[in-house]
Amino acid sequence: MTQHYRITLLPGDGIGPEIMAVAVDVLKLVARQLDLYLEFQEALIGGAASDATGNPLPEETLEMCRKSDAVLLAAIGGYKWDPLPRHQRPETGLLALRAGLGLFANLRPAQVLPQLVDASSLKREVVEGVDIMVIRELTGGIYFGKPKGIFETESGEKRGVNTMVYSESEIDRIGRVAFETARKRRKKLCSVDKANVLEVSQLWRERITLLSKEYPDVELSHLYVDNAAMQLVRWPKQFDTIVTGNLFGDILSDIAAMLTGSIGMLPSASLGASAPGVFEPVHGSAPDIANQDKANPLAQVLSAAMMLRYGLNQPAAADKIEQAVLKVLDAGYRTADIMSEGMKLVGCRAMGEALLEALQ
Ligand code: IPM
Ligand code: MG
Repeated sequence: MTQHYRITLLPGDGIGPEIMAVAVDVLKLVARQLDLYLEFQEALIGGAASDATGNPLPEETLEMCRKSDAVLLAAIGGYKWDPLPRHQRPETGLLALRAGLGLFANLRPAQVLPQLVDASSLKREVVEGVDIMVIRELTGGIYFGKPKGIFETESGEKRGVNTMVYSESEIDRIGRVAFETARKRRKKLCSVDKANVLEVSQLWRERITLLSKEYPDVELSHLYVDNAAMQLVRWPKQFDTIVTGNLFGDILSDIAAMLTGSIGMLPSASLGASAPGVFEPVHGSAPDIANQDKANPLAQVLSAAMMLRYGLNQPAAADKIEQAVLKVLDAGYRTADIMSEGMKLVGCRAMGEALLEALQ
């Protein structure tokens, strides 16, 4: 029987629509080949939604996402919307989507592909073979903690306030995702915190340590976040799976991304307890190169593969897409962000065509 899935597409802003178009073509072809029925519906998010409705995450969009089997998101944001009040800014829409769907676990794999070793800004011997999974807590911590806001004190001076807060249950549920993920990989988990200074991190470390008793087969270590940042660029091969809070994860996943040569290569999955997952590239909307056919669509395409693997449980379809990506890289196709000597420079659309050809 043909499997039927309803997928909500959120192209968003900047290069979003261009890279989404490539991913949808790829998905359509793979679906045909594997006899899956994918039904696509599109909705507004980010600056595009703010312009059209005044709300960066319209209620209709959230409802549509809730009723689908998975959500494929491209990117949001751009300088154009920077002056807007916070509740209308594109980032607020993205955070509301994560919170609205309860997507507490963010999986950000950073794998250095042999074809792209030389695209990294670090030495070949440092990055060759790197394969890290950063698991970032996504609906808590300082991003959502209260009190938050800009308040006026009695003296009339303004104070900006955010609160970093984690409860035991929030730490435990992301901890479980991390141990389970590490178990399926090389069974090494590094938990990153700032327990030498922050109470919230002290509790984080206590709970992760307690949880590790249930996973004796996984080797657990702890690092302070400053040291973890340094170790990631010093000798990244020491890491397998990393688990950390929202803000530290935001920062460390960008560092991990750059080990691979370009943030333009990295997909991510955001998962909750039951709601549909959201699959999106780690990179942003790159407004400086939008509508110029220069964007690298591979992170978007690999996000579609993650959607098939983690969101729809269709690993064969995911494998097919990931192999097609390797094939176009082997054939020498490169967008500008991963270009190196002797390779064929292509734009976003031509990269998409090469992928379709590789899939045939
Ligand atoms: C990310 C981004 C977002 C974040 C921004 C756009 C709100 O940097 O997904 O890493 O900080 O989470
Ligand atoms: Mg980020």
